[in-house]
Amino acid sequence: MNETNIKPVTARTFQKMKENGEKITMLTAYDYSTAKYIDEAGVDSVLIGDSLGMTVLGYDTTINVTVDDMIIFTRAVAKGVKRAMVIADLPFLSFNVSKEKTTVNAGKLIQAGANAVKIEGSSDFILDEINHLTKSGINVIGHIGFTPQYINTIGGYFVQGKSYENTIKLLNEAKKLEENGAFAIVLEMVSSESAKYISENLTVPTIGIGAGIDCDGQVLVVDDILGKFWGNTPKFVKQYANLKDTMINAISEYNSDVKNKKFPSVEHSFSLSEIEREKFEYNTVK
Ligand code: KIV
Repeated sequence: MNETNIKPVTARTFQKMKENGEKITMLTAYDYSTAKYIDEAGVDSVLIGDSLGMTVLGYDTTINVTVDDMIIFTRAVAKGVKRAMVIADLPFLSFNVSKEKTTVNAGKLIQAGANAVKIEGSSDFILDEINHLTKSGINVIGHIGFTPQYINTIGGYFVQGKSYENTIKLLNEAKKLEENGAFAIVLEMVSSESAKYISENLTVPTIGIGAGIDCDGQVLVVDDILGKFWGNTPKFVKQYANLKDTMINAISEYNSDVKNKKFPSVEHSFSLSEIEREKFEYNTVK
């Protein structure tokens, strides 16, 4: 496609896709080239998830990720994308402290190139912050169900929406997010039936991760689908490639080529002209 014909994906596009029953796609990315490939593959949105705490920075959870970390990766991803919507996570306690702090931090991510921010949780305090952000011109995606930033208070990786009562509770949270301006809502690790019910009863689209087929869209961590991640992958991940093995094999081959003097060969080296080479034979170094 000619670059001038590229129509960037916006919050309105998401809404239209839900209305037309067209599935919304989202993948995480943390660097320029991966973002470029995701965009070229036609994925609708790219999330600079705070999952980068684990995938890129090697932490055990997302809790150590800072706004400064997010800014660096958001800049890189935004540079690689032409069509997809760029969404950046507000990391742990970069919101939930004061409306002022939230607005300043969200503003930094928008100025780094994000088109929207994502916020985990739905307390009254957070709803108020989302309301303020959207009125300040910042697009917000909500995130409920399992919310990794609350891992210490949740106490484990538990599936949410496992009963009728819990589904209604989640639906009410989602509705409040919608009322306060969230233009989409991520549902993480929610039973398929609950996610279907919630999606059918909301105006804005739901983006599922471990929430079944009936969400309006799907998101996964790119390292998981590419088979690049070290740890255990959750049940809801479908692995489409095995980059971990591909990378280790290629790196091992390079390592052994260098050790065995097979690399660099003539093909990968620069040479002098015949005339210059001959000079070495007739001149000696003093
Ligand atoms: O941080 C993250 O990657 C997320 C998920 C929804 C994929 O929030």
